[in-house]
Amino acid sequence: MDILLLGSGGRESALAWKMSQSPLLGKLYIAPGNGGTGAYGTNVAISPLDFDALRKFVDDNAIDMIVVGNEDPLVAGIYDYFENHPVLVAGPSKAGAQLEGSKDMAKRFMVDHGIPTARYRSFTAETIDEGYRFLESLKPPYVLKADGLAAGKGVLIIDDIDEAKKSLAEMLGGMFGKSSATVVIEEFLSGIECSVFVLTDGNGGYRVLPVAKDYKRIGEGDTGLNTGGMGAVSPVPFADAEFMGKVEQRIILPTINGLLKEGITYRGFIFLGLINVAGEPMVIEYNVRMGDPETEAVMLRIDSDLVELMKAAAEGNLGDLPLDESPKTAVTVMMVSGGYPGSYPKGKIITGTDSVTDSILFHAGTAIDPQGQLVTSGGRVIAASSLGDSIPDALARSYASIDKVNFDGKYFRRDIGRDLMA
Ligand code: AMP
Ligand code: GLY
Repeated sequence: MDILLLGSGGRESALAWKMSQSPLLGKLYIAPGNGGTGAYGTNVAISPLDFDALRKFVDDNAIDMIVVGNEDPLVAGIYDYFENHPVLVAGPSKAGAQLEGSKDMAKRFMVDHGIPTARYRSFTAETIDEGYRFLESLKPPYVLKADGLAAGKGVLIIDDIDEAKKSLAEMLGGMFGKSSATVVIEEFLSGIECSVFVLTDGNGGYRVLPVAKDYKRIGEGDTGLNTGGMGAVSPVPFADAEFMGKVEQRIILPTINGLLKEGITYRGFIFLGLINVAGEPMVIEYNVRMGDPETEAVMLRIDSDLVELMKAAAEGNLGDLPLDESPKTAVTVMMVSGGYPGSYPKGKIITGTDSVTDSILFHAGTAIDPQGQLVTSGGRVIAASSLGDSIPDALARSYASIDKVNFDGKYFRRDIGRDLMA
């Protein structure tokens, strides 16, 4: 089957890499792709949000399935747009994508279906005084979340009550534009986080993918500013059979059943951002796509045919297709541009990628310049993903590979996975 994959990051590189191994795959197109995705298919210069242009491409090239990498097209309703068109879309409907598109909807959904999550209330400009009182009823730190999409920046965690009240007013006043016209305030949960990915067919069928943990902060020891993700590890030692049993019973099944009960069409990936609070899993957030950079680790541990699984999910019938996991450990370490997540230069020449043999390099912010040279074009540049017998073994491969790749200002964290090693 011919597939159109939407997106341009490391996650899409990893999805493209994995799908390109499928005997079912005919042609793979990536819109818009990046400087590395050309190794797995053909880059197409169309924005994932330009649905009319995508439809024309789908028609002209007889595309069988659209795989959506990032949340924006899903929240904008790409599933519904193509609903009566002869192409499969792997992803949730617009209503399902609200699990990520509206934190207020996600919290309401969790409460209605008995899914463990932090106690919360939502406020608008009209109810700001109640918001202040709710803050006073909580213990610090205070967690304030813009309801809508805010490019991963919409969550503030604040220690001081006056500061929190000021931020509530600023958020409701337009700090994140329309996204923060409603603000969710919730209880702070203390624990270690992990990412669980579920592929569902919208008819009660689902498969759980390998669990991963990502590293969000720019600095070692999880310090400094939040980034799109600096590395990931899979599996996660604390997400053992007992923990995952609780996740399945208390979170995955109620989520799948809740979607069915509410009549929400959902045929794609559900990303559960979980926190382990003294052994009990709770949901921090839902996303409606795979994680980045978790995907760059998780794909290495899937031994089954991803195209077959995604096609079955998009068709609404996963049946008894297996999703086999490798027992090995996968890690990914992200190389970023100096200055990221603040401002950083672009167009720096990247060398050494051809000499890497022990890792897979998943390109994120790379491009091919007019001279045909591979150059940086984003903050997160290339992820080095490796399989090994243990976290240290896999990490040694990724770090050795990173040593071979060079560009001006290259930065990466040297402590990925350290918190998980006994
Ligand atoms: P989100 O954008 O929802 O992923 O939130 C960003 C990060 O904020 C999460 O990955 C957590 O580390 C943290 N966070 C969000 N909600 C809470 C909470 N209720 N308690 C503690 N940390 C939280
Ligand atoms: N790694 C977290 C995310 O993709 O949102």
